[in-house]
Amino acid sequence: MRKALYIDDDAGLRALVQRGFRRDGIEVVHVADGESGLKALENDDSFDVVAVDLYMPGLSGLETLERINQMPNHPPVVVVTGAQDSRMAVTALKAGAFDYVIKDVQGEFIYLLKAALQAAVDAMRTHRAKEAAEAEVREARDRFEALAAERAMLMREVNHRVGNSLQLIASLLTLQANSARDPEVSKALASATGRVLAVAQVHRRLYTSDDVQSVSVDQYLTALVEDLRRSSESNALAQLTLKTDPVNVDPDRAVAVGVIVNELVMNALKYAYPTGKGAIRVAIRDTGNNRAVLSVEDDGVGIAPQSEPSDRKSTGLGQRIVKAMGEKLNAHIETDPSHAGTRVLVSFDMRKDAPRPAL
Ligand SMILES: Nc1ncnc2c1ncn2[C@@H]1O[C@H](COP(=O)(O)OP(=O)(O)OP(=O)(O)O)[C@@H](O)[C@H]1O
Ligand SMILES: [Mg+2]
Repeated sequence: MRKALYIDDDAGLRALVQRGFRRDGIEVVHVADGESGLKALENDDSFDVVAVDLYMPGLSGLETLERINQMPNHPPVVVVTGAQDSRMAVTALKAGAFDYVIKDVQGEFIYLLKAALQAAVDAMRTHRAKEAAEAEVREARDRFEALAAERAMLMREVNHRVGNSLQLIASLLTLQANSARDPEVSKALASATGRVLAVAQVHRRLYTSDDVQSVSVDQYLTALVEDLRRSSESNALAQLTLKTDPVNVDPDRAVAVGVIVNELVMNALKYAYPTGKGAIRVAIRDTGNNRAVLSVEDDGVGIAPQSEPSDRKSTGLGQRIVKAMGEKLNAHIETDPSHAGTRVLVSFDMRKDAPRPAL
């Protein structure tokens, strides 16, 4: 504390305070009333602390205190009062005074005032430092949030572009499929289109969601199934149904799940009902412990046990793709022998490194 403002109508006490503080190298500017005190504070921002008498003619100590508290960056205020006015002192504390000092403690007043003023200065300094630190933390957090938002926006932008590019590739493949003379070539190009669309759909999900790290599998498959329906001829997938628990996975896993669904649904479409159409059911169940089970089933003829890739119609590519995607997912793939028709079950981890309970 180097400079204090003392406001008191008692001229004797003002002189006493000034002298008492000067001994410790503290400059005291003193004025006789509240208005002069406020003016002094307005013209000089070097005061470390203010002491104000509660009882003064004109502006009272309490009013002066309230006016000082409205000033920006004001110094702390200690009120000075007579012994009989402790109730007023409490009011002053409630109004924002840092402390109060009673005037007529014999000979102790200067000492007590000095201690109270010093404590007020120290407390204010700590308070301001804390506020500055908090402001810094707030600013850092805001900056971080802005960066994170920008990053998410960029990710969405990238996903948008990737999605558009894949969509374009799919369109080009469709054009090529439609203009191919050989029906086998045309079919092959059409299934390539389906595979590309399955991947494109993941990116479309990613840029339409707020979260760029995870894909809601139910929404993704809903969109994918829509794509499949639209691209299949003459409403062949009218009886395709989808039922999924709300499952979220990272984009890589979503791609793998989507590609598998695409293959299995296309197989059911191609082979299950040689003489017509029938039900095809896709489902994902959250089985707990970070595991989910995808099932794709039909009520058709079932996979012939000795069905070989050398089968004239089959390339066997679908099975290879399912297997490769299954490895990406760390999945367990099986066909359910008890099901009449074909039921393929793919169980996989929803998150990469979630802890699995030991068996
Ligand atoms: N749902 C099903 N119902 C009956 N048979 C099936 C079913 N799914 C697969 N198959 C049989 O398994 C064989 C292998 O399927 P896979 O997906 O590997 O090859 P593909 O479908 O013939 O070729 P691609 O997938 O490249 O178009 C098929 O040719 C078919 O005979
Ligand atoms: Mg296939």
